[in-house]
Amino acid sequence: MLLLVDPYYDGLGFRVAKSLNVKLVSLVHKVFPDGESYFRIVDDVSGEKVVCLVSVFPEQDKGVLRAIFLSRTLKELGAEKVIIVFPYFPYARQDKRFLPGECVSARIVAEAVFSAGADYIVTIDVHSEDVFKPFGSRFINVRASEAWAGYIKSVYNLEDVFLIAPDKGRINYIGSIASLLGIPYSGFEKVRDLITGEIKKHEPIDPRMFEDLVNSKRIAILLDDIISTGGTAAKVAKRLREEFDGRIVAGFTHGLFLPGSVEKLIKAGVDEIISTDTVKNSFSKVTVADLIANTIRKLA
Ligand code: R5P
Repeated sequence: MLLLVDPYYDGLGFRVAKSLNVKLVSLVHKVFPDGESYFRIVDDVSGEKVVCLVSVFPEQDKGVLRAIFLSRTLKELGAEKVIIVFPYFPYARQDKRFLPGECVSARIVAEAVFSAGADYIVTIDVHSEDVFKPFGSRFINVRASEAWAGYIKSVYNLEDVFLIAPDKGRINYIGSIASLLGIPYSGFEKVRDLITGEIKKHEPIDPRMFEDLVNSKRIAILLDDIISTGGTAAKVAKRLREEFDGRIVAGFTHGLFLPGSVEKLIKAGVDEIISTDTVKNSFSKVTVADLIANTIRKLA
């Protein structure tokens, strides 16, 4: 097996390479004066299984194109199997035709990468798995729960901690991390305006459990899959802060942290921010490298 690390992935690329302990494929990458990319795969890949770790943020479109170029070229050069790893899957939130005529971009990205020659796509904590069901076992979503649990266990006194899900859709996932750690959890649900559908507020799913936790624990860890503008997490943290005077930690698998997002979290009363390293940012403390490496080993 060989590993090709996207030139835009440094830290996570290094960690996955160390964890997998396989030979790296050399890649020549240039950007032409007009902005177009050039790639040349230098090593012999014929008959090999090649894993490509592809970075897609902040330049999602270029990242998708890199995955397409590399998948096709690796296959043309005789690679036996191509595994594209998108630690953060681009366009994942455009997973439905919400309005007539919209592109279901998440599915189209996966289709394009598969048509270019990829045999598998591996990703972490994809926003919603449903849209990828047509690809069956070729699309592998790995939950980052073990990485989160390991980090939380190593940093906090578990007696003090409870987990919070920002919405109903995340409650099972948060519950799975809580059960790995043997700690309690609760969550919020969105209350929408019945006419406009607009989110009016967030309320605890189980008010009694919530009250018990905010009165008995000192650290709340709010975990979401993505932070982009910070609007969602800030609203939930603000609501939590109305009743909880302990420490609020906000954790995100994919930390895009668009300008202004950190400020929103601070204003909402968040004391600490953490994220995984699927996207390069200054809050990455939790690595998904071993999760990726273990998944790849099973495909070898
Ligand atoms: C929503 O369903 C997602 O899980 C995230 O909560 C959301 O995409 C985060 O976006 P933003 O930071 O812009 O609110």
